Amino acid sequence: GFPPIYDMFMRHHTYLRISLTEKCNFRCVYCMPEEGVQLSPKDNLLTNDEILRMVRLFAAHGVDKVRLTGGEPTIRKDIVEIVAGINSVPGIKDIGMTTNGAVLEKHLKPLVDAGLSKINISIDSLNKAKFELMTRRNAFDRVWSAIEAARKLLPKVKLNTVVMNGKNEEEILDFVAVTKDKNLDIRFIEYMPFGGNKFSNNKFYSYHAMLEQIIRKYGDSVKRLRDSPNDTTKAYKIDGYEGQFGFITSMTDHFCNTCNRMRITADGNLKVCLHGNAETNLRDMMRAGASDEELSDIIQKSVNNKKARHADFRHEQFEEFAKPSYDPHRRVKK
Ligand code: GTP
Ligand code: 5AD
Ligand code: SF4
Repeated sequence: GFPPIYDMFMRHHTYLRISLTEKCNFRCVYCMPEEGVQLSPKDNLLTNDEILRMVRLFAAHGVDKVRLTGGEPTIRKDIVEIVAGINSVPGIKDIGMTTNGAVLEKHLKPLVDAGLSKINISIDSLNKAKFELMTRRNAFDRVWSAIEAARKLLPKVKLNTVVMNGKNEEEILDFVAVTKDKNLDIRFIEYMPFGGNKFSNNKFYSYHAMLEQIIRKYGDSVKRLRDSPNDTTKAYKIDGYEGQFGFITSMTDHFCNTCNRMRITADGNLKVCLHGNAETNLRDMMRAGASDEELSDIIQKSVNNKKARHADFRHEQFEEFAKPSYDPHRRVKK
């Protein structure tokens, strides 16, 4: 076997996120420009077999959780085979997928039968027109229908809602109301700067401001739940409600200290941090005939270079938003 993967800060890495494609059928405003992004040539993408080799190797190092992401993972034609393949790898306990849900429904049953155990579906608005404004696609009905279908097949479905000031911050209470009689876990995500998304401070809406809205309405019925050890989410629920909600506070309170994640890009690079630029090309090593031992060595070397926290966005500026005196509508200079 291979040794467990620890970084220099003694974080034990057991979670591998694999991007299956760079393509997406949406154009969410916080993620991509209208015209889309430059795609790698098809030959540069990992094949089904290469993905499985990666999963086997990481599992041999103690990784027990895999999440398939994108782009939009359901665009990949061999998605069900990939899930089935991963499911046959000893040591993998959980296979998750993060999807926009647009073409999910018809794949759901085959995916779950193949071993998919967790699904996170993005939904930024409960209002069709606003949904279209945020995703640049008129797909609310299909996404909602996929969410309902997923709830029937899996014990708990998570929803991802990126909150942007001036776009959907007024819908937070509507989303919380959805948890009353549905076993959904809605995570409100702080908008963060990314690639070319033209981040600006006045589109930012903090965890603190979101929670304040909820407490103003629900008062003492708001209960803080215990978070699982490596969770990105601060979990809450309304007393007596079936579902729960939470906050992914990437900007105001990062969770780097408990990070257990590594990711592989669609073109086969290992990234040890979402926000770091350093990438290690595992694809070319595999294609040049590298042994598992050689790959293992390179993987551990990359993890050794993982920073304590991502340094490239100036969190200090945003940590101010977490203070009780923060006014969500005040504009801040860049
Ligand atoms: P679970 O496996 O259910 O815990 O999924 P997740 O919440 O880790 O993943 P998901 O793909 O649903 O991502 C939701 C949000 O979490 C993303 O929008 C990011 O904001 C954030 N996120 C996921 N991974 C990372 C990471 O490695 N670093 C940071 N800073 N944020 C992350
Ligand atoms: N800020 C916050 N969340 C983002 N996501 C994509 N881009 C951003 C951003 N700039 C979210 C998507 C999806 C998850 C994988 O990442 O909504 O739910
Ligand atoms: Fe971990 Fe980097 Fe994500 Fe922070 S940003 S939680 S260090 S992967």
